[in-house]
Amino acid sequence: MKILRNKIELDNHLVEIRKNDQEIGLIPTMGSIHKGHKSLVEKCIEANFFSLATIYINPTQFDNKSDFENYPCDEKKDIFELEKIQCDALFFPSKEDMYPNGLKSQKEILDYRDILCDKFRPGHFDGVTTVVKALFDITRPDHAYFGEKDFQQLKLIEKLVQQNALPIVIHACPSIRLKNGISYSSRFKNFSTHEKKILDNAAKFIYEHLIELKHNVTSIILDKLKKNLLEVGVNKIDYLEVRNEKELSFASLYEKYRLFVAFYIGNIRVIDNFALHYKVKNKK
Ligand code: PAF
Repeated sequence: MKILRNKIELDNHLVEIRKNDQEIGLIPTMGSIHKGHKSLVEKCIEANFFSLATIYINPTQFDNKSDFENYPCDEKKDIFELEKIQCDALFFPSKEDMYPNGLKSQKEILDYRDILCDKFRPGHFDGVTTVVKALFDITRPDHAYFGEKDFQQLKLIEKLVQQNALPIVIHACPSIRLKNGISYSSRFKNFSTHEKKILDNAAKFIYEHLIELKHNVTSIILDKLKKNLLEVGVNKIDYLEVRNEKELSFASLYEKYRLFVAFYIGNIRVIDNFALHYKVKNKK
C-alpha cells in the first residue's frame, strides 16, 4: 500500500494511476479502521477500482471539544489493517490541504436539516460536507464509498454531489454490525467493559422492539423502547424515530422505513439505523 503524506505525493501518484485508465474509488475515513471501513475498501477493490483511503480527523465536524480530543487514533494499526486487505493507497491530508483558508465550514446543503443528528449537533454536517467536498476536489475520484450507518450524512453527501454536478458515483454500503447487531463505530474503542455490556443490553431491546415495529409503528412502542434503554444504563437519548429513507420525513404508507437511533453510553454517542420496510411488500 502506498502511503501518501501530502498533496504533492498524492497528485504525483494519481497521475500515474490515471495514465493506466484505472478508475479511482475514494474511501474517506477519520481512522480507527474497523470492519465497517474495511468493507468499503473491499467493495472498491472488488469493483477493480484503485482504492484510495484517506484518514483525517476533521475538527470542524465536532460540536464538542472533548469528543474531538478523545477521538481514537492509532496510525500504525490503521496502516496495518488497510495493508492487510490490500488497499492500494492511503492518504493523510494535512490541515492545510483540507483548509487552505483556515478552519471554516460552509453551510452548503440545506436539505435533510434540523432533524435527527443535525438537530442535536448543530454545525456537524457543515463540517462533514466541507471536508468531503475538499477531499473530492483534491482527489477527484470517480467513485466514493460511504456506510449506511451514517444515513443522514450519506443523504447530504449524495445531495452535495448532485448540487455541484460532480462526476462521482456514490456507493451507499450496508452497515457492518457487531455480534450484538449494532453497527461498528470508531468511538466504541473508548468503551469500558461495563459500557460494552450496556450496549449489548441496549441492542437486545432494540432488536426486540424492531420485531414489533415491523408490524406497526406506534409511539407506545417507541416510548417502551426509550424506557428500556434508560433502564439498562443509557444515559441520554437524542432521538428514536421512524423515518422514510427518501426524504427522512416521518414515514407514511408504502415507503421504505428505518428506525433511527442516537443515544449516549457514558459520554460516547451511539448512532445507528435499522431497516423496517414492513409495508413495501403490500404495495399495489
Ligand atoms: O464518516 C466519517 O468518518 C466522516 O464523517 C467523514 C465522511 C470521513 C468526513 O470526515
